[in-house]
Amino acid sequence: MQTRTASVQREAPSGAPALLSLRGIGKRFGAVEALKGIDLDVYPGEVVALLGDNGAGKSTLIKVIAGAHPPSGGSMTFGDQPVCQFDPRHARELGIETIYQDLALAENLDVSANIFLGREMRRSRIGLPVLDDARMRREAAQALDRLGIHIPDLGQAVGELSGGQRQAVAVARAVYWKAKLVIMDEPTAAVGVGEHEAILELITTLAASGVAVILITHTMADVWRVANRIVVLTRGGKALEGSPEELGEDAVVRSMLFGRQGKS
Ligand SMILES: Nc1ncnc2c1ncn2[C@@H]1O[C@H](COP(=O)(O)OP(=O)(O)OP(=O)(O)O)[C@@H](O)[C@H]1O
Ligand SMILES: [Mg+2]
Repeated sequence: MQTRTASVQREAPSGAPALLSLRGIGKRFGAVEALKGIDLDVYPGEVVALLGDNGAGKSTLIKVIAGAHPPSGGSMTFGDQPVCQFDPRHARELGIETIYQDLALAENLDVSANIFLGREMRRSRIGLPVLDDARMRREAAQALDRLGIHIPDLGQAVGELSGGQRQAVAVARAVYWKAKLVIMDEPTAAVGVGEHEAILELITTLAASGVAVILITHTMADVWRVANRIVVLTRGGKALEGSPEELGEDAVVRSMLFGRQGKS
């Protein structure tokens, strides 16, 4: 496979060290080699667009980072610490929040219950711990407000919200719990035009506050709007990496197509 990796790794404006570093990450599913020796550094406050054709290995890669799949080989460090334990709860404790397309929100619970799911606030009533719904609702409203998200009724079950509002709740949860890395798998795939815009703005807001974002998308225009860096996967390998400006859209699209046409 032809590999063209930009020679200069773009550093975040702060010059901070990499938040996430992958070295030689591989993943096999039986005979399928879904990931082949992936090296990747992600810096605080940057948006990395992870691109590639269907089956290129994008979701597998983020599942490794999020602790959902142990890698078959290679190493990962997060905040300078080696990661030896691959499970989703551990990843969340480290500050890695993943927003999958199905979002893993509890449909029948309301907005604040979703933001505090598994980490509920409690108060004491006649010496017994009970859920502090009023405080969670207040904190949830403030968290959404800080992100410029308007959801008219926070008591509404999440299952009744639109696709974009659900994304927004998931992002608010990540921000409230001080995620350092937010991974989004095709967040704009099933939302309307207005919500699409709102999600792009949320991504920019997240990055501006120092959170690193890995964004999987098939929408080139979004990449050019929000990404600092592009990584293209082709059949499990890294085919191209660099800033949108240095790569140009033609090279990126060609790199994705070569995988599909089997010419790489
Ligand atoms: N749990 C699994 N068991 C077996 N094979 C898998 C599993 N998950 C992924 N694969 C295989 O690994 C390869 C990469 O799949 P992956 O889902 O990472 O692709 P993708 O880039 O996310 O594609 P898409 O754009 O279609 O979402 C594919 O060949 C897929 O069939
Ligand atoms: Mg996928």
